[in-house]
Amino acid sequence: MGDPNNPWAAIVDDARQYPSPHNSQPIKLRPLDEATAEIFYDLDLGLPAESFGIPFGHVCAGVFLEGLHTVAAGHGFDVSEVLEHSEMDFSSADRLHPLGTVSLIRRPVTPEDRSRLAVFLRRQTSRRPYDATLVPDAVIESAATVASAGHNTFRTTADAATVRELVRINQSTLFSDLQNDAVYGEIMTWLRFSRQEARVRGDGLSAEAMLLPGAVLRFAMSHRELWRAPVIGGLIRATYLNTMRGVRQLGWLEGPFSGPADYIEAGRTFLRLWLRLTRDGVSLHPFGTVITNPSSHSAFVSAVDADESDGRMAWMLFRFGHSSRPPVAHRRPAAAMLMGAAS
Ligand SMILES: Cc1cc2nc3c(=O)[nH]c(=O)nc-3n(C[C@H](O)[C@H](O)[C@H](O)COP(=O)(O)O)c2cc1C
Repeated sequence: MGDPNNPWAAIVDDARQYPSPHNSQPIKLRPLDEATAEIFYDLDLGLPAESFGIPFGHVCAGVFLEGLHTVAAGHGFDVSEVLEHSEMDFSSADRLHPLGTVSLIRRPVTPEDRSRLAVFLRRQTSRRPYDATLVPDAVIESAATVASAGHNTFRTTADAATVRELVRINQSTLFSDLQNDAVYGEIMTWLRFSRQEARVRGDGLSAEAMLLPGAVLRFAMSHRELWRAPVIGGLIRATYLNTMRGVRQLGWLEGPFSGPADYIEAGRTFLRLWLRLTRDGVSLHPFGTVITNPSSHSAFVSAVDADESDGRMAWMLFRFGHSSRPPVAHRRPAAAMLMGAAS
């Protein structure tokens, strides 16, 4: 279980499994003593090219914090937080955006804490085909309860035409993102074309996780002009849509989304919901790029008639269902997330 006087190493070793867009793992932690640490968002590992890329930085921080609470509980600690909630400035000379300070408070571990930690460590993104079965209503209701506790509404559709339309919007987002030079550059930074590269670097989106042979992914990504060509473009589209076989249901979250505090709460709620579905054997695949790409977002909002009044937003869309276990997305070692004390 590690050094009882310095729990950070053991906690970070589990907490680094939090999910992040493009698996960029942007959160850094600087322990000040055995109970307290500062947390930062490393702007060099952010994805600001898209319009909602910056809010998603805070969403990712919220996902991390929920993961930290889950891990710390499994290791026998509550976490208290003092957060800063300032906007991220990706042009800042200081590349570490301060998120705040977290403190560990010792407490007994319950069986529920242990099982939640196990679920956290088991959670994955599944980009595999799903098996076309519906998730039971009781599971959806319990996920909806989790969402409403975080002031979000979990909505779902199993209407075949709507599901088809949303899957099409997600696929065309990829095509449209590739035409945007800044977004294209960002994606290329995070693609890992061989298993070896994915394992050694311990981050990014591997061809394996995207269910594509590395050489095919490399060719397709290095010739983005071909994506618009009739035959090859059609082939790439068909290959991508093939991984979406058996998708019966999509879900999304609507909730307050008008500043860093909202984005962080949204991220926490999303991970809680993801863990609840994982606990019940349900796979999930976020379609975050549908949100960060403005035209895809508005197509999604009108397809589902989402409520975006009063500072609320339909801020996350995902497919969910049942699939076989996906390939593991690697993480950088704990040491890459831990920073030494400030000098
Ligand atoms: C806020 C958020 C948005 C995401 N958006 C997408 C997305 O648009 N497409 C996608 O394939 N994966 C998306 N993901 C999944 C990440 O790529 C994934 O969590 C990461 O690669 C690590 O893999 P794992 O979840 O299997 O551990 C998103 C994850 C988060 C937390």
